[in-house]
Order: sequence, then structure tokens, then C-alpha cells
Amino acid sequence: MAILPIITAPDRRLKVKSAPVEAVDDRIRRLLDDMLETMYEAPGIGLSAVQIGVTKCLITVDVSPEDEEKRPLYLVNPEIIQYSEQIETYNEGCLSLPDQFADLPRPEAITLNYLDYDGASQQLQTDGLLSRCIQHEMDHLKGRLFVDHLSAVKRGMILRKLDKVRRQKVSA
Ligand code: NI
Repeated sequence: MAILPIITAPDRRLKVKSAPVEAVDDRIRRLLDDMLETMYEAPGIGLSAVQIGVTKCLITVDVSPEDEEKRPLYLVNPEIIQYSEQIETYNEGCLSLPDQFADLPRPEAITLNYLDYDGASQQLQTDGLLSRCIQHEMDHLKGRLFVDHLSAVKRGMILRKLDKVRRQKVSA
């Protein structure tokens, strides 16, 4: 396994749409392993492959509390087939937008189809933090960041802040 660098915004690579995976083979499983390790190391609760520069529909998630047993979830080619009418607002963050957060409304519950680590078809119905996290990661697969849900003014503020932080890092 390997820890890979996470791409941070603003970066055009994060706007690329990911392609479905044809088959869950050992190469894909190795990628999922690397993604999970990278996500835990960050630390984060979700990661999409596009954030490590691989434009395939792959997501790793683990929303279990830090002091509890790890419960990783691997989502290959996820597709949401149902959204609840109930909307919840949550203060969302992203490993590609370090230290930036914003309140964002999203459907509370979802039902999705996906392939698991072994390539088997699965269906999951979930709500709360896991639903939130999966919706966030699936936005990444469409080339969207959580700031793309915000007004242009708010988005601009966050992206400029990140750009400034990065320039300081480069010159330091
Ligand atoms: Ni994210």
C-alpha cells in the first residue's frame, strides 16, 4: 500500500469527470487499498480517486468514530437511485480544500447501487453522516467540489484563501 499526494483546489484536475470502471481486478483493488491508506493518513472520512489524479469512479469511505474499529467502505461505480425529500444542512469540509468548511443542504437519506471490493453488486440505503459523505464523494466523480454548491462570492473567497496558503508554502 502507498500514501499518495492529494490534489488541492484550485486545480483543473479536480474538474475532470471520472469514468466507470470496467472490471474490479487486482489493479483496481490496489488503487482502493492506496486510497484507503491515503484517506486514513490525511485523516479524512472519504476520498475519491480523482483527488489522487485517477479519473475512475472509485470512492473509499469510513465514518466510524476514531476510537472504534475501522469500517471501510469501497464504492466502485456508485449510482444514487433515490434521494429523500428531507433536506439536512451540515458543515462540510474536503481534503482537497484543507481547513475550509461551509454549511450545505443535501438530501438526508439516499439509496445507491455500487460494486464492492470483490466486484459484487450491492445496494445500500443510508442517512446521516454516511449519506452526506457519499454524496460529497460522488460530486467529486462529476468534477464538482462542495464549494461549487455555494455562491460565486463565497466560493471565490475560499479558493483565493487556498491559493494564498499554497503560494506561501511554495515560497517558504
Ligand atoms: Ni472532498
